[in-house]
Amino acid sequence: MIEARGLVKTFGGTRAVDGVSLDVGAGEIFGFIGPNGAGKTTTLRILATLLEPDAGEASVAGRSVRDDPEAVRRAIGYMPDEFGVYPGLRVDEYLDFFAAAYRLPRARRRAVVEDVLKLTDLEGIREKRVEALSRGMRQRLGLGKCLVHDPAVLLLDEPASGLDPRARIEIRELLRELARMGKTILLSSHILTELSDLCTRVGIIEKGRLLASGTPEEILRGLAASRTLRVRVAERLPEAAELLRGVSGVTHVEERDGEAIVLFDGEERDIHRLLRPLVERELPVVAVVPESRDLERIFLRVTKGELA
Ligand SMILES: Nc1ncnc2c1ncn2[C@@H]1O[C@H](COP(=O)(O)OP(=O)(O)OP(=O)(O)O)[C@@H](O)[C@H]1O
Ligand SMILES: [Mg+2]
Repeated sequence: MIEARGLVKTFGGTRAVDGVSLDVGAGEIFGFIGPNGAGKTTTLRILATLLEPDAGEASVAGRSVRDDPEAVRRAIGYMPDEFGVYPGLRVDEYLDFFAAAYRLPRARRRAVVEDVLKLTDLEGIREKRVEALSRGMRQRLGLGKCLVHDPAVLLLDEPASGLDPRARIEIRELLRELARMGKTILLSSHILTELSDLCTRVGIIEKGRLLASGTPEEILRGLAASRTLRVRVAERLPEAAELLRGVSGVTHVEERDGEAIVLFDGEERDIHRLLRPLVERELPVVAVVPESRDLERIFLRVTKGELA
C-alpha cells in the first residue's frame, strides 16, 4: 500500500530525507521511529503529497505521489503533528465540515459523522467546542477528521505525542480497531516504546536515513545479537567473574554492586551454560537476571551509531 524508493529531500544544506526506501503492506501498522529532526515529518509529508521529493519515487495505494497526487490524496488520511482547529465549531460540525470538503453528499455526511463520532468515542462530547478539547480528545478528533472519506491508508505524524498514559491507551485501541477494519497505517513517533507494541513492523530513522527496519523481533535479533545478564552470587564474586570470563560466548564481564554483569553472545537457551562452571565450584549463585532488551535500548544503541 505504501512504497518508497530512494526518497531525498534537502532544505538548504540539510538533507532532511536521505535515500529512504520502505514498503508497507495492506493492513500493516508501520512505526516510523526516530529522534527529533530525523526526517519523519518530511517523509510523511512527501507521502501525503504536501512536499515534492528532490529525488526518488513513492506511491500510495498504487498511485504515484508525483504523477497522480489527487488520487493519492483520496486514498489517504493524513494527520499532521500539529493541527489547528477552527474555533467556534462544535466537534460534530468540525467533522461535518471535513466531510463536506471531501464532497460527501449531505445525507451521507450525517451517517459518516455519526460513525466517526462513535469510532473515536467522541459521541459524548459532540457538542463541545473544538477549541475547548483536551489534548487527548483533540488527537482523537484529528484522527476522526482523517476518516470521513474512508481512506485505505492513514499517515499519522506522532499520534500519541503529549498524551497521558490513559489517552495513549485510547489512541492505541483506536489504531488497533482501524487496522482490524483493514486500514494500512504508517505512524511516526520519537519515543520507541510509545506505540511499538502496536506495530507489525518498525523502521528506525536517523539523519534522514533508515537504519533498520523489520518486525520488532527482527530488529531485536538483528541488532542485539549479544545480551546482558546480571549474575548475582552471595559471595566470592571475583572468582565467579573469572569463571564467567572463561565461558565460550562471553565477551565481557564486569563486577558491579555485588553482581557480575555479563555480555553474552548466545541464545536464551544457552544461558544455562554460564552457570555450569559456577555450580561445579559450588559458588553460591543467587540469581541470573537477563536485562530487558526492549526496543528503546536498541534504538539508543542504533542511534548512537554503535550498530549502524
Ligand atoms: N520547511 C523546512 N525548511 C527547512 N528545514 C526543514 C524544513 N522542514 C524540515 N526541515 C529540517 O529537516 C530535518 C528533518 O525534519 P523533520 O521535521 O522531518 O524531522 P522529524 O523526524 O519529524 O522531527 P521531530 O521528531 O522533531 O518532529 C530537520 O533538520 C529540520 O530542521
Ligand atoms: Mg516531526
